[in-house]
Amino acid sequence: MKDQKVALRGEIRVPGDKSISHRSVMLGSIAEGITTVSGFLKSADCMSTIECFKAMGVEIELSGETLRIKGAGLRGLKKPDSVLNTGNSGTTTRLISGILAGQDFECVLDGDSSIRKRPMKRVMEPLALMGADISSIYDNGCAPLKIRGKALKGTDYEMPVASAQVKSAILLAGLLAEGETSVKEKIPSRNHTELMLKGFGADIETVGETIRLRPGRELKGMELTVPADISSAAYFMGAGLIVPGSDILIKDVGINPTRDGIIRVFKAMGADLEILNERTEAGEKMADIHVRYSHLTSVTIEDPLIPTLIDELPLIAVVATQAEGTTIIRDAEEMRVKESDRIKLMTEGLKAMGADIEGTGDGFVIKGQSELHGAVIEDEKDHRIAMSFTVASLIAGGEVTLKNPGCVNISYPGFYEDMKKLQM
Ligand code: S3P
Repeated sequence: MKDQKVALRGEIRVPGDKSISHRSVMLGSIAEGITTVSGFLKSADCMSTIECFKAMGVEIELSGETLRIKGAGLRGLKKPDSVLNTGNSGTTTRLISGILAGQDFECVLDGDSSIRKRPMKRVMEPLALMGADISSIYDNGCAPLKIRGKALKGTDYEMPVASAQVKSAILLAGLLAEGETSVKEKIPSRNHTELMLKGFGADIETVGETIRLRPGRELKGMELTVPADISSAAYFMGAGLIVPGSDILIKDVGINPTRDGIIRVFKAMGADLEILNERTEAGEKMADIHVRYSHLTSVTIEDPLIPTLIDELPLIAVVATQAEGTTIIRDAEEMRVKESDRIKLMTEGLKAMGADIEGTGDGFVIKGQSELHGAVIEDEKDHRIAMSFTVASLIAGGEVTLKNPGCVNISYPGFYEDMKKLQM
């Protein structure tokens, strides 16, 4: 990545939403009948989910971005012959734990070196309340996990952290349990599982802060379309806002209100950002987003907004280096337990590029309008760190070198090519 500062101009459709793509494979696999998914995200993480369900006997065909799943039914999964490999994917590891907890077989879940460091007690504990038998093989609260399928019972659980992965694991286990399951969240996290379960015919409702699921209904295969991923679109929004002369139209982006914090924050910073052609498909809102280079001012970002933009905070840190004033991000300690410690890597990398940034226990303090220069960046193979520094490189005077540029394949194969297309 060289000193470029070339304006980004034109139209783009980023790949399908990662969270929704994972869930489509999971629910399609445990439904009755055929599920077809268009706009599926064919990235390394979502392929991990496909491989896990194939290993449990589910017939899944992927052609281009279209997936066809022949569902095995709620209790039709087969014991896998070997360890289920979830790769780098926290979503796969946590959500699948809920499904496996209620099967009639035993298996082991494991992933890469990042997955082996991520906290799994947050799913093991609520699932244990439902009767699950899940143990951490090295007794450190992380993968590899041994899951012995058991008869489950419903529970009423109040979430101690806002986490859609934990909430979803409980709801998926609830499908297999005896009696009702409820999950209460003080701060709402992304609700794709609830929306999709409803689409598949589950008896689920959200009233106020509580989601209630009553088991007993089979899920029915369906046709669904995955919107473009707002977390991927965010890099183009951010780049468009900070590279002078930019003007980009990003098509078909999922703007579910539990995910759209990035739009709200950029608007609060004074971004020239328009939401066009709003519509809803299968319960999920989507729209086209028009973004132009803008004079930005600082913001304070805190709960209840944090879960709605948790994966976009590294990018927001980059954008905040160009805003007038001091941006404060707090209540975001969850960033420390993502694919990497994102507070640490963003602080170190942006400092190395000349930004005025301090990491705090739960966020950042960033004084804006720094001139960025080149640097070698440690990304620890975290896709969101790599893509955020790619955006920073667009305005840096000098070369930015990522240690592991290929890690973007976790959520966005073709990211660099798409960025280049807008620079022509
Ligand atoms: C996800 C939920 C979030 C997010 C992750 C995907 C999901 O994690 O950071 O990238 O698909 O449910 P948490 O549930 O841990 O907050």
